[in-house]
Amino acid sequence: MSTEGKERIITTQRLLEKKQRGEKIAMLTTYDYTMGRIIDSVGMDVVLVGDSAANVMAGYDTTLPMTLDHMIYHAQSVVRAVKKAMVVVDLPFGTYQGNSKEALHSAIRIMKESGADAVKLEGGKEIIESVQRILTAGIPVMGHLGLTPQSINKFGTYAVRATEEAEAEKLVADARLLEEAGCFAVVLEKIPATLGTRVAKELSIPMIGIGAGSGVDGQVLVMHDMLGLSKDFSPRFLRRYASLYDDVKSAFERYVDDVKSGNFPNDKEQY
Ligand code: KIV
Repeated sequence: MSTEGKERIITTQRLLEKKQRGEKIAMLTTYDYTMGRIIDSVGMDVVLVGDSAANVMAGYDTTLPMTLDHMIYHAQSVVRAVKKAMVVVDLPFGTYQGNSKEALHSAIRIMKESGADAVKLEGGKEIIESVQRILTAGIPVMGHLGLTPQSINKFGTYAVRATEEAEAEKLVADARLLEEAGCFAVVLEKIPATLGTRVAKELSIPMIGIGAGSGVDGQVLVMHDMLGLSKDFSPRFLRRYASLYDDVKSAFERYVDDVKSGNFPNDKEQY
């Protein structure tokens, strides 16, 4: 593991200052070195090594099968590439809930073995002891409220969260708890835009939305989704910035054709 040459342009303090200046924060997931290098060249503020790797890299239906070793492998690849943005890594399911000592051990492994800058945990009051304990070790923590995919078996659906008042009030209270505990930012996933705006206004730390409307302090998307690498996931909040499924498929098709027809390699493509 090497963090040599990392300029650390984006820190938790820089993110806070961006919120105070009203400057939006750009965050995107990534899981590998090659994409990490491209992402770090465009002025991205935060790179999230998300446990959505379970879905887009490994083909699982949920994020639950991800292990600490899987996350560390992805995080190491990304940290080798990213020199400017802040690298945040998801603590996977089963490595922090209900046992703050284990949570601290998991977070320390991620920081030590990958060289990442911070960890992200899903949940509010239920996991606050874990958040507090990780923070005592000087490890920056990002929260995650609203739709928390690691709890999919409790929710039973990926529908919009906190549409009812009781759940909305719990979300606001949880966001306050996370801020008071010392989290540097919180992801708000798939909640009404009015609620996203309210939480962003009431709290001092940045609220980064994914399907939480435009009134929050920044946005995050899953890289594969925004690149259009798959056609079967189209939530309303997703904007596709490329259609890579079609481009990549066409490249593969042309390669197969060229090999089978003897068109590749040509005279200039051999020794
Ligand atoms: O794992 C992930 O990619 C995430 C984002 C959806 C915020 O947590």
